[in-house]
Amino acid sequence: MNTQTMKENINLTNMKEKSIAEIHAEHKQTIGEPFCDNVKFSTRNVDVFYADNQAIYDVSLDIGKNEVIALIGPSGCGKSTFLRCLNRMNDTIDICKVTGDLELDGTNIYSKNQDPVLLRARVGMVFQKPNPFPKSIYDNVAYGPRIHGLTKNKAELDELVEDSLRKAGLFEEVKDRLNSPGTGLSGGQQQRLCIARTIAVQPEVILMDEPASALDPIATAKIEELISDLSKNYTIVIVTHSMQQAARVSQRTAYFHLGKLIEVGETNQIFTHPRHELTERYITGRFG
Ligand SMILES: Nc1ncnc2c1ncn2[C@@H]1O[C@H](COP(=O)(O)OP(=O)(O)OP(=O)(O)O)[C@@H](O)[C@H]1O
Ligand SMILES: [Mg+2]
Repeated sequence: MNTQTMKENINLTNMKEKSIAEIHAEHKQTIGEPFCDNVKFSTRNVDVFYADNQAIYDVSLDIGKNEVIALIGPSGCGKSTFLRCLNRMNDTIDICKVTGDLELDGTNIYSKNQDPVLLRARVGMVFQKPNPFPKSIYDNVAYGPRIHGLTKNKAELDELVEDSLRKAGLFEEVKDRLNSPGTGLSGGQQQRLCIARTIAVQPEVILMDEPASALDPIATAKIEELISDLSKNYTIVIVTHSMQQAARVSQRTAYFHLGKLIEVGETNQIFTHPRHELTERYITGRFG
């Protein structure tokens, strides 16, 4: 073996020996394209703490109008925490503190003047586990519009409920039992009911935290189809553990690792030519 080859071999060995923890510790700045044109949400230098534990480190990310962006990364990397910053759901956790700049259409969503309830009407959320209210299918969807006074009379409310259920791809399945309890639907139907409930208040952004992880492949396919339809009118931020799902529904993907935003790019690029070693290891399943 000549000296050159020996040197290369030693370098390779050194590279292999670098642990994920070391690469993570060295990582200072998100690579790729965290910023975009036509911005709906702009987040800058976001840190999140749960008491003394920091869960998000200096994350800056733009989310474009009418784009679907997927947040991916290993369990505990802060995907849900970051998602909840976008409609101030973290406010409901006493020990949680969020710092940094978060703007929706150029307005600081953490300013004193911002009513979190009104913010959540503009930025709706769908959770991992469908959580219909213990009310009828109709009342689940009518709940938000009633609170926010979105309709003038019963006929308008009926129309909004039907329209929301149609957009969520559920109307045909439930039109004859609108007065039955929402909790009596199948899991996939309940999730579409929750999406209808979110759409009914006419949000601008929909946050989805693993919306299909509890569903079978058929129900999952319906939700994914729905996400594609909704993306014509809404901005969607989706957390998913399924890389196939991220690839199917999103245009951009953001990869998080232990609270840092490592890499952001076009979804295709992230999955075929990741630029950061941590992203590469994650998408090729070489972790640990
Ligand atoms: N309510 C909470 N109180 C204290 N710590 C929390 C709370 N929620 C999350 N954390 C911590 O913040 C970090 C990020 O958690 P988060 O739930 O955002 O991760 P995640 O990427 O959504 O994980 P998963 O894929 O498992 O859902 C973790 O270390 C977690 O323990
Ligand atoms: Mg989560």
